[in-house]
Amino acid sequence: MARTLILLIPLLVLGNVVVDGAFAPDLIVAMAKILLDNYCSPEKLAGMQEAIDSASSNTEILSIPDPETLALVLTGGVQSTINDPRLTVSYNPNYVPAAPPVLPLMPPDQLVAVLQRSIKLEVLEGNVGYLRIDHIIGEELAGKIGTLLLELVWNKILPTSALIFDLRYTGSGELSGIPYIVSYFTDADPPIHIDSVYDRPSNTTTELWSMPTLLGQRYGTKKPLLILTSANTRGIAEDVAYCLKNLKRATIVGERTAGGSVKIDKIKIGETDFYVTVPSAKSINPVTKRSWEVTGVTPDVEVDADDALAAAVKIIALRAQIPAILQGTGALVADNYAFENVGADVAEKLAALGSDYTLISSKEELETKLSADLLRLSGDKCLKTTHNVPALPLMNPTPEMLIELIKVSFHTDLFENNVGYLRFDMFGDFEEVQAIAQIIVEHVWNKVVNTDALIVDLRNNVGGATTAITGLCSYFFDADKQILLDKLYDRPSGSIKELWTLPELTGVRYGTKKSLIILTSGATAGAAEEFVYIMKKHGRAMIIGETTSGACHPSGTFRVGESDEFLSIPTVHSDTAQGPAWEGVGVTPHIPVPAAAALDTAKDIFNKHFAGAKK
Ligand SMILES: *[C@@H]1O[C@H](CO)[C@@H](O)[C@H](O)[C@H]1NC(C)=O
Repeated sequence: MARTLILLIPLLVLGNVVVDGAFAPDLIVAMAKILLDNYCSPEKLAGMQEAIDSASSNTEILSIPDPETLALVLTGGVQSTINDPRLTVSYNPNYVPAAPPVLPLMPPDQLVAVLQRSIKLEVLEGNVGYLRIDHIIGEELAGKIGTLLLELVWNKILPTSALIFDLRYTGSGELSGIPYIVSYFTDADPPIHIDSVYDRPSNTTTELWSMPTLLGQRYGTKKPLLILTSANTRGIAEDVAYCLKNLKRATIVGERTAGGSVKIDKIKIGETDFYVTVPSAKSINPVTKRSWEVTGVTPDVEVDADDALAAAVKIIALRAQIPAILQGTGALVADNYAFENVGADVAEKLAALGSDYTLISSKEELETKLSADLLRLSGDKCLKTTHNVPALPLMNPTPEMLIELIKVSFHTDLFENNVGYLRFDMFGDFEEVQAIAQIIVEHVWNKVVNTDALIVDLRNNVGGATTAITGLCSYFFDADKQILLDKLYDRPSGSIKELWTLPELTGVRYGTKKSLIILTSGATAGAAEEFVYIMKKHGRAMIIGETTSGACHPSGTFRVGESDEFLSIPTVHSDTAQGPAWEGVGVTPHIPVPAAAALDTAKDIFNKHFAGAKK
């Protein structure tokens, strides 16, 4: 408020302006008075009255010889004082106010021709309606030509299955037209509070409500409605777009709108040829409690106005696929998801969610929402949409390439007390690993197999194929006794696979006698968790670090019907006879420490152990 006052003073100093001696020094005072009585946001004028009073006693004279320049100076002053770019002062010696549009008293066939010129209507491919209206007519005119509009326009739009409503060129309209338009896209019941309009000159607020009865049928609430906008969409058209957007009935596609006003008046300043253009009413949206005025309506999908129609057509095509995608997703989950009961439940609940997807505007939005719903319904972060089309297998790698690969994939070290260290960050596929088992044994395993204790570092291991797990586990058990490591249930085939230690291995076993510590972190995932889970369950290793990720066995990638959506679905789960395994919950360590401290903790434990053993 104080700031408003300070800004007004330099402006009002201009009150004592001499322009060719032709203007009364109270020009500014008169203008300020007009604003006080007409400007739609009177709260922004706080302090104006005091400023007028103080300016009246100001004697400083400013000389601006030319009235056009003065109008510009005044405009700048008003705009910076009130911070509203819609306020302007102009000098128009020959201004004749535009007469309110008279109803066309023309014969019907002529009226038809006029309407057909001012309204563009098409039915596009796929039964998509397209309607362009460049002026929003008011209640009175609608009353006169309603039947004609119904016959020529609306009855052709009604049978379409989606509508593109083009307001890119709509720069004028009547306030009373808003409830008509909005009502055709909402239900008759319950009545909806569309907008509230505060009119400053009358100091009254009018509520606009949806209409219980309309000429002709409603388009209703079910079919997609896309509104195209541009930076030239102004005034009443902005209100229509903003209301339908916030009622969640329409998706706005195009550019941010002009930020005009529901009502603009051009008022003569006293007996001068200066006019002040002032927004005299404002809209307060009941949903947002705000207005689109000045800032404009932000589109849901922002594209250049020229590209808006194509973007809208694309959105409608996407939405048409959604019911089949939800249905197809449900079926894939029910038939393939590792946890059968959960899968059936997800499918059923997903089918009921269709109405949540009516405002989806892009493939990314669809995928994000679908993944979020799958997570919410299943509690499993591995069940989701994916872009991961299965990778191609490595083509005939040479032995040199394999050695290089192994050198970067595995890290080994030797610590004091002959404690070995082995780190690897991925699990390879069994077929591949078998082919290179000899290389791994030579270049990696032989460096740590003769140690007295071993630290296996899986803190950065994000998983991979589970086919190598039995082989890897077997190195830490003895050859003479086969052990059942885990049972895996495979949902698509309904079969159970038992994982047994292997009787024969490449290279030497570590065996069951020497101590083993496995390091974990919250990132340890998938196949790495299965390995940790097995080693912990069989009491073969001490686990130090953080609870693991709680991911899943490797997921399958499934295409949803004929669409270009893909799902990642875990199809296998570990034996749950003894309660939940690690999927979704992770493996808890024996000794919980932050991942960064896990290696030192492990070394300490071994050092103390070996120090004690030497005594
Ligand atoms: C407008 O009306 C309200 C009551 O409805 C009144 O409190 C307020 O003073 C009025 N404002 C002006 C500027 O007349």
